[in-house]
Amino acid sequence: MYQDALMQQSIKKVEAAREANMKLDPRRMTAEEKELLLKTYHPDYREDQFEHLVFGPNAGQKVPKELAKLLQAKSRLSGKTIDLTAPDYDTDVLIIGAGGAGTSAAIEAHENGAKVMIVTKLRMGDANTMMAEGGIQAADKPGDSPAQHFLDAYGGGHFAAQKDLLYKLVTEAPEAILWLSELGVEFDKTADGTMVTTHGGGTSRKRMHAAKDYSGAEIMRTLRDEVLSRKIPVLDFTSAIELIKDEQGRCAGAVLMNMETKELLIARAKTVILATGGAGRLHYQGFPTSNHYGATADGLILAYRAGARLLYPDTLQYHPTGAAFPAQIYGALVTEKVRSVGAMLVNANGEVFMNPLETRDVSAASIIRECSDRGNGVATPEGFAVWLDTPMIELKHGAGTIEKRIPAMMRMFAKHGIDIRKEPILIYPTLHYQNGGLKISDDTQTDIENLYAAGEVVGGIHGRNRLMGNSLLDIIVFGRNAGKYASEKAKTVENGVLTLAHIADFEQQRAQAGVTDDVVSPQLLPDYTRKVNEK
Ligand code: FUM
Repeated sequence: MYQDALMQQSIKKVEAAREANMKLDPRRMTAEEKELLLKTYHPDYREDQFEHLVFGPNAGQKVPKELAKLLQAKSRLSGKTIDLTAPDYDTDVLIIGAGGAGTSAAIEAHENGAKVMIVTKLRMGDANTMMAEGGIQAADKPGDSPAQHFLDAYGGGHFAAQKDLLYKLVTEAPEAILWLSELGVEFDKTADGTMVTTHGGGTSRKRMHAAKDYSGAEIMRTLRDEVLSRKIPVLDFTSAIELIKDEQGRCAGAVLMNMETKELLIARAKTVILATGGAGRLHYQGFPTSNHYGATADGLILAYRAGARLLYPDTLQYHPTGAAFPAQIYGALVTEKVRSVGAMLVNANGEVFMNPLETRDVSAASIIRECSDRGNGVATPEGFAVWLDTPMIELKHGAGTIEKRIPAMMRMFAKHGIDIRKEPILIYPTLHYQNGGLKISDDTQTDIENLYAAGEVVGGIHGRNRLMGNSLLDIIVFGRNAGKYASEKAKTVENGVLTLAHIADFEQQRAQAGVTDDVVSPQLLPDYTRKVNEK
């Protein structure tokens, strides 16, 4: 229900143009048009929002200002003496993070006979996986192939993906879907049992498998059940605040902190898997986020301090369609599936201004242009927005389509009095994904021996822009691989003497580089407290 008079006037224009708009097939932008658009409007190109790191493995490289502060911050253990001689936990494989990547890794490591332990600062499943909506890509239908999937993702990622990792992603995708199905994920199917697949932005074939518009929740539910039924120990409300190494510089565990009592605990492990997810809750450039409450880049911080390199830490994904109104859902994800089932993006005048299935970076930049220089945005309490004309969906595909294909979207807006079957919705880009992250080799190992990584904490799989549905895929493919490789390696590891010497080294580099602030990291949770004098 839109009470604002300007919004109502704009809706009238959208309604008046709807029938004609539905007949349009807006052309795709040329490569030159895209490049100019991105350079002018995409947030990754706002030089004043980035800083160059002054020390550490990525010294000299540019990262978002907010991340630079945390990467170069002091340890939570700074100045403390920690006794590492009597660990509280001893395990083969320690997994830090309990979203889709961490739980997939745990299942495979357990399957391989390892003693596995998961630690998570919140609870199992409190993760971006749970919030993923649109689906998971896999080329498993006639007329499609992993090669085609590779080309789509490689081009969509601006030809910057690590080819070996992307190859693994697309070739292992069909098996990942089978694995999930056999574990119990209820993908959408037609009456004869064929999986329903749709397009996403930048895909040349319909290969998006979904469970309505709560695909991530369905996958996470299943993985969580499997971890529970295998009785894999999960230590919840316990964060990892530093990695531990041994005298040979290999990763050998982590210092943990009970989130309630702040008690410190020592976990010794033969191998460690970081599956800590993304960084949306750092709200780069003041953007709202579609991310989970715990997405504060912790894994990047721990690994960087221990000596691991990051790849493409300057590239973020702003999902084009974050909810822009009402304020209660500002920044929440409006799945790309809304566009793939037929809704078009239109500006305040009711004009279609782009093809709805351009890649995400291009779509986000195009919306920002519409709302800034072109002055075609709809004013909202938070700024400006454009319309996603959802009533088109049922006009194209018949009554009941929205409830059947995107019921979670329908409910999210209905709670605020907006019936998306009858009224369009207001959207604006929201911080959604970190394209960059830890550099890994094709056995999922980071620069540090015995430290593995999987999921959003990894960089390079998608290059400089990820296509929809390749993240749910990457947490499964690389989560499973990390579990297999780390558990296999654990069979050959004898733990040495545990040490935190790398923290003192890092702080020495910090002092030499002249960084003197008192920032402490990892942050662990976002800080939403209002400061004195703030409105
Ligand atoms: O639009 C979406 O449903 C998001 C999917 C993704 O990030 O892969």
